Amino acid sequence: MIKNIVTLGGSNSKNSINKKLAEYVGELVNGVVLTKVDLNDFKMPLFSVDTENEQGFSKSAKDLNDVIAKADGFIISLAEHNGAYSTAFKNAFDWLSRIEGKVWRDKPMLLLSTSPGVRGGRSVLDIALARFPYMGGNIVGSMSFPSFYDNFKDGEIVNEILKEQLQKLINDFEKDL
Ligand SMILES: Cc1cc2nc3c(=O)[nH]c(=O)nc-3n(C[C@H](O)[C@H](O)[C@H](O)COP(=O)(O)O)c2cc1C
Repeated sequence: MIKNIVTLGGSNSKNSINKKLAEYVGELVNGVVLTKVDLNDFKMPLFSVDTENEQGFSKSAKDLNDVIAKADGFIISLAEHNGAYSTAFKNAFDWLSRIEGKVWRDKPMLLLSTSPGVRGGRSVLDIALARFPYMGGNIVGSMSFPSFYDNFKDGEIVNEILKEQLQKLINDFEKDL
């Protein structure tokens, strides 16, 4: 069976660099089909326990949960806003966690983050590395990709060292699928 890999940028920016990076890395995985998630296609109300009690789960939350449930693996790249998850990602994550606590179903995950800064999304990556394992996250590799606009040009990683590092992570990810 051909494996189904979900790529996801943890952002709702139309031109999300994290979505670009996740999809770029997804294209480098051999012999898989990609399901490319854009959080803008799954708009959800702002999570609150009251909204959950009064309205239940939105169709978009159930739909995204279905996409995740059908995945054999994940390539996720998280946007960093003020050192943490973007609001759009955190909101989706909170809703998903109410549908199924093991959001990521123990499927292999390559966890990335990037930003224009020299640390990439190191802070948000550390938050997710600490948290996702409690939510069914099976993180087989991770990387904070620095200075996105210097190192990724015309749809391609132009920094050979970073490219090599990522390729190693992709090789490991393939073995774990
Ligand atoms: C509200 C806000 C907060 C941000 N905070 C950080 C930050 O803490 N660290 C960082 O490296 N970049 C930060 N940035 C810059 C983002 O990394 C940059 O906008 C990036 O493009 C976000 O990823 P995306 O394109 O996938 O949405 C911030 C941007 C915004 C709009």
